[in-house]
Amino acid sequence: MVVGCLIAEHIRQGFRVLEQPEQTKDMTKEDFMEHHRVWCCSTTPEKAICGVSRIWVFSLARRKGIATRMLDTVRNSFMYGGHLTKEEIAFSDPTPDGKLFAKKYCEMPAFMVYNFIG
Ligand SMILES: CC(C)(COP(=O)(O)OP(=O)(O)OC[C@H]1O[C@@H](n2cnc3c(N)ncnc32)[C@H](O)[C@@H]1OP(=O)(O)O)[C@@H](O)C(=O)NCCC(=O)NCCS
Repeated sequence: MVVGCLIAEHIRQGFRVLEQPEQTKDMTKEDFMEHHRVWCCSTTPEKAICGVSRIWVFSLARRKGIATRMLDTVRNSFMYGGHLTKEEIAFSDPTPDGKLFAKKYCEMPAFMVYNFIG
């Protein structure tokens, strides 16, 4: 049974996600907004090496560290003899789930994105 899949590709640059201003209205719907909010990114390119084109985990197997393990494996095997840092990774047009995962995985809200329609 396949529980996870990650497709990675070589890239040259990414763009940092910009933090959205906090909602002042409808604070009781904060969780809802977090899941439906779009994201904005910087227009300044930064060096990136590995692009996460697709990442998916079977719904009943989520929040068990599977995506984390898949991406750790990619970082250790993507370049022969090298190890990628979390700063060298970018995510292709992240979904709301992908955004929450990327923020946690990269240990920063300003993770990098690529491959989006401006
Ligand atoms: C995004 C996705 C791949 C994450 O897979 P996962 O195996 O559940 O991720 P992990 O268990 O490694 O998550 C690591 C941390 O990221 C954060 N995180 C991941 N998914 C989250 C979510 N839906 N909501 C909030 N935080 C989330 C959590 O902090 C989590 O740690 P915790 O469970 O100890 O709190 C999975 O939700 C998925 O397949 N979603 C549908 C497809 C998709 O949207 N892909 C993203 C494309 S960019």
